[in-house]
Amino acid sequence: MSKPVIEVNNLYYRYPRSNDYVLKDINFSVEKGQFLAITGENGAGKTTLSLILSGIIPQAKGGKMHGNVIVCGLDTQKEDLAVLSQKIGIVLEDPETQLFTTKVFNEVAFGAENLGLPREEIIKRAKWALKVVRLEGYEERHPTMLSGGQKQRVAIASALTMRPDIMVLDEPTSQLDPIGTIEVFEVVKELKQKYGMTIIMVTHKSEEIAAFADNVLVINQGELLTFGTPKEVFSNKEVIKKAWITIPQVSSLYLDLLDKGLQLEEFPILPEEGVRLVKQKIS
Ligand SMILES: Nc1ncnc2c1ncn2[C@@H]1O[C@H](COP(=O)(O)OP(=O)(O)OP(=O)(O)O)[C@@H](O)[C@H]1O
Ligand SMILES: [Mg+2]
Repeated sequence: MSKPVIEVNNLYYRYPRSNDYVLKDINFSVEKGQFLAITGENGAGKTTLSLILSGIIPQAKGGKMHGNVIVCGLDTQKEDLAVLSQKIGIVLEDPETQLFTTKVFNEVAFGAENLGLPREEIIKRAKWALKVVRLEGYEERHPTMLSGGQKQRVAIASALTMRPDIMVLDEPTSQLDPIGTIEVFEVVKELKQKYGMTIIMVTHKSEEIAAFADNVLVINQGELLTFGTPKEVFSNKEVIKKAWITIPQVSSLYLDLLDKGLQLEEFPILPEEGVRLVKQKIS
């Protein structure tokens, strides 16, 4: 097994001027190239954890942190944020808050410019990033005129110009329509499969978690409730109830069938799996 790219050890955190720890005794690690979904109810601590992984907390926001978070061998509490941003990129929930310029190309080049890279390198990286997120031809457009899914892909491209190994996305599709959601998930899937990136995504979308994630981490009131494969998590009744998780439609259909006495071979989380198991049962 390869060395993890993210190691979180005995993490505790409280915000400035607050006595309550919003994250308590969090321990987990992520292997290179894995897709980890983070889920849990509102206020559980998901955004706080995302900001801690990228070093923004506590470096830019203060507060009190115990334990340590090691990303690609770097201590996120000590390492320069500009260095960290080249290992771990972050994309936030609302793409609007991340748009600063009047042209898509400038928007995407912005991060690389801040690194002080040579002009040709900035252009090369911005072109590559726009290609990855499938926005070639949009260079001259005004970012605010794009659809929600396109804006979010611009935000992903901006982070990509730093050439990070890991991408953290905090509810990137919560404000998007179904088409925008698919666009973003397709791009993220490609980042993982084609470029070997490690993906950390905060999301409530169980169908997408089932289809894309290798593992799921559930946070409940600042504590790690469970860490497992989507199948392990969605089939765990106690976890689902405690963290108010919505399970995939096919899983809930399975539970209805179970109530009516129809037992399938396993607990399905993907539609095609459900079809296969039902066919197997009735043939
Ligand atoms: N700047 C801050 N100062 C003090 N407390 C904060 C701050 N930001 C968040 N909190 C508190 O920290 C806790 C965790 O918040 P966080 O935003 O990480 O949760 P979340 O799981 O991302 O929630 P949501 O699903 O609503 O996005 C909450 O109790 C929240 O009120
Ligand atoms: Mg949040």
